[in-house]
Amino acid sequence: MTAIDTSRPHPARMYDWYLGGKDNYPVDEAMGQQMLALDPRVPVMARVNRAFMHRATRWLAKNGVRQFLDIGTGIPTEPNLHQIAQSVVPDARVVYCDNDPIVLAHAAALLRGTEAGATEYLQADVRDTGAILEGARKILDFSRPVALSLVALLHFVPDEDGAHELVRRLLSELPSGSYLVVSHATADFTPEESKAATERLKAAGVTLALRSREEFTRFFDGLEPVEPGVEVPHHWHPELGEPVPGQDDGVIPGYGAVGRKP
Ligand SMILES: C[S@@+](CC[C@H](N)C(=O)[O-])C[C@H]1O[C@@H](n2cnc3c(N)ncnc32)[C@H](O)[C@@H]1O
Repeated sequence: MTAIDTSRPHPARMYDWYLGGKDNYPVDEAMGQQMLALDPRVPVMARVNRAFMHRATRWLAKNGVRQFLDIGTGIPTEPNLHQIAQSVVPDARVVYCDNDPIVLAHAAALLRGTEAGATEYLQADVRDTGAILEGARKILDFSRPVALSLVALLHFVPDEDGAHELVRRLLSELPSGSYLVVSHATADFTPEESKAATERLKAAGVTLALRSREEFTRFFDGLEPVEPGVEVPHHWHPELGEPVPGQDDGVIPGYGAVGRKP
């Protein structure tokens, strides 16, 4: 197993810290505190994002999707995606994937699915689309629709690494009726705070590729938009979950959307 690097902050562990988890290190908390100093609403944003994932998964399961490929899964935080999906569709099959060794270390918690369904974990980088597709095929039936969820992941993948191309490559192997779910941070609403956060993270070795609404929307090129289209995450089908305390007290600088492959 790759060693856990506690000398610099990691996105999965900072996110865990924002969510109130225990699977993080002092270096993650220190950078998290710096982010809070720039914008005290960061923990609310993390919860709003997590709640978007819950609602999108619920919507997909209610709309007949039984297979999920979730890349950039994060450290397990209940409820996890398979728990939501399998509460609607008990035989849902879920493949999780993340590149951070700390997620692998906690992956057992992601594998406790229903007897009827299946859950599996792959340690891979989203840029290694070939390995992900090969691993996912062992669990998922690619002749039937798959929901590809990239939730709060793609803002860690800069354009130089082919963020849009890799989404297209992953979707190209999935059949008609498959879905893409993306949430993503943006600098559109808070340009100064976003710039400062990006610079601090960069100095600590974390790349943050914030994208505009137009750049975000391009991930869905060729797909049919699911209503209500591109939204701030807490406005995407709010009726499918509970509001996050504080979500309406200021800006949530992100977008969320779901698209269907025709
Ligand atoms: C902010 S967390 C989001 C977790 C979960 N998707 C959610 O929204 O609740 C981002 C996750 O993406 C993972 N990640 C970042 N870059 C990645 C890459 N290149 N390949 C795979 N996973 C990556 C991080 O390790 C982290 O677990």
